[in-house]
Amino acid sequence: MEEFHKHMRALADKLLELFLMALGLTDEQVGAVEAERRIAETMTATMHLNWYPRCPDPRRALGLIAHTDSGFFTFVLQSLVPGLQLFRHAPDRWVGVPAVPGAFVVNVGDLFHILTNGRFHSVYHRAVVNRDLDRISLGYFLGPPPHDKVAPLREAVPPGRTPAYRAVTWPEY
Ligand code: OGA
Ligand code: NI
Repeated sequence: MEEFHKHMRALADKLLELFLMALGLTDEQVGAVEAERRIAETMTATMHLNWYPRCPDPRRALGLIAHTDSGFFTFVLQSLVPGLQLFRHAPDRWVGVPAVPGAFVVNVGDLFHILTNGRFHSVYHRAVVNRDLDRISLGYFLGPPPHDKVAPLREAVPPGRTPAYRAVTWPEY
């Protein structure tokens, strides 16, 4: 677990940097955001190990109720038994996320939605159970320390506009 955590934490730092660059920030701006907010340095991680026992009538069972993850982003490692579903619009429907061997699914969470002023949307998702097979998944959740305020990055707010969200701490949110 400790070894896994070490590698995942490094992967999270790398992904955070890629996310910020995808917002259109330059290397210098990414550096400035880090110097000011110290997001990568202070990000904290929680790991959930989920076991979904098989169920003869999956439609009548709850795997994991529909939700958004509240933190910055989550890495989900699924066993080969699929079950993770995302909600898509137009038309409204649940879409299964294929279990790709060796691949992580990355969920954007609500506080990252706030941090990026809504440029990256948090994803509404759920997990369903399987009729024949037990399912295992691992969630690695990244977020800010509990007492840090999270506010939209200046760089993510269009010039002349006010931020779409106020600053909140994770517990307050
Ligand atoms: C979660 C989650 C999905 C899964 O733990 O927040 O969404 O596939 N897990 O278990
Ligand atoms: Ni989730």
